[in-house]
Amino acid sequence: MALLEARGLTKVFGGLTAVGDLDFDVNEREILGIIGPNGAGKSTVFNMVCGTVKPTRGTLTYQGKDITGLPPHHVARKGIARVFQGNVLFPGSTALENVLMGMHLHTQLGVFSFLLGGRRARRRERALELRAREMLELVGLGGEASTVASDLPHGNQRHLCLAVALAVEPKLLLLDEPVTGMNAEEVSEMLETIRMLRREKGL
Ligand SMILES: Nc1ncnc2c1ncn2[C@@H]1O[C@H](COP(=O)(O)OP(=O)(O)O)[C@@H](O)[C@H]1O
Ligand SMILES: [Mg+2]
Repeated sequence: MALLEARGLTKVFGGLTAVGDLDFDVNEREILGIIGPNGAGKSTVFNMVCGTVKPTRGTLTYQGKDITGLPPHHVARKGIARVFQGNVLFPGSTALENVLMGMHLHTQLGVFSFLLGGRRARRRERALELRAREMLELVGLGGEASTVASDLPHGNQRHLCLAVALAVEPKLLLLDEPVTGMNAEEVSEMLETIRMLRREKGL
């Protein structure tokens, strides 16, 4: 059984068929690339998988379960994480804070539980921070935890986005245009990181 199966996946916006009758499988530890010119429908495919766009027709099956049209937070909780096209979520915050905030958005464990929750919440918070630092380490940003995100070079910012996505321990990672706007060196770094994630994390 494939990790993710798309069958007859279709999205029509008004009169425009952005994605038409698409079938694909993603197996565990498989890296599947979707290529196509601008406007081909790549981002729309990602949007349908992660739940921000509802398919017009077709089905998405993840680990044998139908996830077609589930809301994004449900999809995320099942272990599907998405790295958005474009830049870091909180450019004015440090690398570490970005990863932590990503985790909080996911776990819905806000700062309030930290302030009000006492010792147990603080222990949990420390555990989260440890994991966040691990993720930074993993993508090669271990030394940049306290660097403000917008001060990082473009390639590193994209790696930071990866760390944010990884912090929720996904099984399936969706990367929308992971190397757009990168120079040759940054591209090969990103590809190496993606291969490393398959090796180390089984993604
Ligand atoms: N929310 C939307 N509403 C209407 N049309 C959209 C929407 N999102 C994408 N489209 C259209 O669907 C087509 C595919 O877009 P997109 O999936 O972003 O392509 P890609 O990521 O391959 O560049 C484009 O023609 C785009 O204008
Ligand atoms: Mg796109």
